[in-house]
Amino acid sequence: MALIKKEVVDKIIQQADITEVVGDFVSLKRKGQNLWACCPFHHEKSPSFSVAPNKGIYKCFGCGKAGNSVQFIMDIEGSSYVEALKYLARKYSIDLEEDQSPAAMQAQNERDSLYILSDFAKQYFVNALHKNDEGQSIGMPYFKQRGLSAATIQKFELGYSLDSWDDFTKAALEKGYQLKYLEETGLTIVKQEEGKQYDRFRGRVMFPIQNVSGRTIGFGARTLKSNDKKSPKYVNSPESRIYHKSDVLYGMYQAKQAIRQEDECYLVEGYLDVLSLHQGGIENVVASSGTSLTENQIKLIGRYTKNITVLYDGDPAGIKASLRGIDLILEGGLNVNVVLFPDGDDPDSYIRKVGDTAFKAYLKDHSRDFISFKSELFAQEAKDNPVKKAEAIREMVVSIAKIPDAIKRSVFLKQCSIQFGIDEQVLISEYNKIALTEQRASRPAPSPAPASYAPGSFEEMAAEAEAAAAAEAAMYEEEETQSTGDSDMLRRREREVIRFILNYADKEVEEGLTTSQFMLGELEDIEFKTPIYKRLFDLCRLKLEQGFLPTASEFMQHEDKEIRTEVVDLLSEKYELSKGWATHEIIVPHESDLVTYGSEREVLRLKWRNVQLMIKDHMESLQHLTDAAELDKTLRTIKALKDFEKQIADLLGIVVSR
Ligand code: UTP
Ligand code: MN
Repeated sequence: MALIKKEVVDKIIQQADITEVVGDFVSLKRKGQNLWACCPFHHEKSPSFSVAPNKGIYKCFGCGKAGNSVQFIMDIEGSSYVEALKYLARKYSIDLEEDQSPAAMQAQNERDSLYILSDFAKQYFVNALHKNDEGQSIGMPYFKQRGLSAATIQKFELGYSLDSWDDFTKAALEKGYQLKYLEETGLTIVKQEEGKQYDRFRGRVMFPIQNVSGRTIGFGARTLKSNDKKSPKYVNSPESRIYHKSDVLYGMYQAKQAIRQEDECYLVEGYLDVLSLHQGGIENVVASSGTSLTENQIKLIGRYTKNITVLYDGDPAGIKASLRGIDLILEGGLNVNVVLFPDGDDPDSYIRKVGDTAFKAYLKDHSRDFISFKSELFAQEAKDNPVKKAEAIREMVVSIAKIPDAIKRSVFLKQCSIQFGIDEQVLISEYNKIALTEQRASRPAPSPAPASYAPGSFEEMAAEAEAAAAAEAAMYEEEETQSTGDSDMLRRREREVIRFILNYADKEVEEGLTTSQFMLGELEDIEFKTPIYKRLFDLCRLKLEQGFLPTASEFMQHEDKEIRTEVVDLLSEKYELSKGWATHEIIVPHESDLVTYGSEREVLRLKWRNVQLMIKDHMESLQHLTDAAELDKTLRTIKALKDFEKQIADLLGIVVSR
């Protein structure tokens, strides 16, 4: 990975204006000192998302997302830290001057050349459509006949390639683009033997394919002839260093914001389907474009939502495609619904036939979860045929077995049992058989035995915390039921512990015992999972062993930028009043006055989260155990962990269900 110099990072952060950065994605309204909008990260009707220009940060009081410009880009684009910095650097024309090896630099330059060339080509085809006679008399009427508006044509930068052998190639070479790049992007086909080169795309309407950040990486090109047996309906760009078909979804750049906002992604098959739906006001739609759906495409959608609805033709091919898609989506840990269209119609033809309103109603009425979809599909055949019925059930359970989440699996097994009128136990044992044969070989070993914990020294603290506990619990419930992933919550807990240590390293929790000594001692057995906090935790321990207090200032000059940045971040964070405290009107002393209580609480919270994850791991490993002794051992471990969880929870004042 390319390193971006600290000075450049600082410059980016300094120059990035939070209102501009956020303003590119949501429309902000000023109210007093701050600006407000409906949160782009969760669904809401009244704005609780705020931007504080003077502090350079955003914060949503509804879902808790907060941070600076870089964090905002990471959140909204689902991108990495470095990607976010690059985005901002581009926006503010800041030169990244990345430290790179010559080889890496050259590779980057070559990729850039491919991007620049693709962009040139896109612009060339757009011009041909709008400014050239042939484009105007042949390309444009085709789009119009397909019902596309000028706005859609513009938004998706549709174009036209002239019906000539090498009009484009000549123009590109004349502009100084190198033939090797023209060949790699596939825009030009080079015939070595004949010493000839000609345009790949000729006399076709052009659909530029963009990556998530909006850069053109390839093209799809449709013939205008309605049934020409000789040439293929679509000609597409080949794979290149910038275009990997299996990682790309057509329309993602234009759809991603709507996908996040609707918390749902419609998946269609063709370019025209995306365009027609978009034009009809359904903007959260992308296409897999001819290739069958891939794992990476599902991951890409997963950056923006966990809910996919596949919209496919109702013909046998469409049904087959949706069945394949369903299993892959389930395997990716996402939720999937299915809508089929009447045989002979695809989403594009159907929305044009019935209109936007009826189409939306159709989506609503015909959306099926995969259990219902599959059971309806098999119901016909299975009705009076027990063999077929058994097959249908097995089909269903195979899909369920793909779901990584154990709780979701059991919910679907239950639903399936109701739908088919079959005893749940039968389904579970069928499930176990499938899970065993399919996953035995590929599963990693079960997680190691739990580290030993030593609760018990907390009685005093419990008394001290009692007043706050109830309020805390309310806050907790809210926090923990948000749809944040396990790793996010763990990360948050680990972060708080480190924040506490660094901020109050020298404060005493009791006479002769500093916060850092206490917390490091208590958490000796805990394995930090977030790399940066693990490193910081280890660094703190080292300092302590060397006889220093691990205060933040010790690390401000650390050689590693990541450490420095993180420490600054942890330090500059204002103490946030917990919602619980506020709503229950408990008088809140400053955090530093609460060091004793706070450090003990943070220790507990982290242990609590860890223990929950261990329980979850063990529960999951249960699914794959067949050996009675192993099973027994795991059950005992779970029991012990649950007891421990309860002890911690009692101390924290949280009610644990079951
Ligand atoms: P369709 O045949 O359903 O085309 O292929 P379509 O998008 O509905 O186009 P119209 O409505 O007939 O004009 C679905 C997708 O499969 C890919 C294209 O991405 C297309 O959008 N495809 C299809 C190809 O890549 N090559 C082909 O020859 C056909
Ligand atoms: Mn079509």
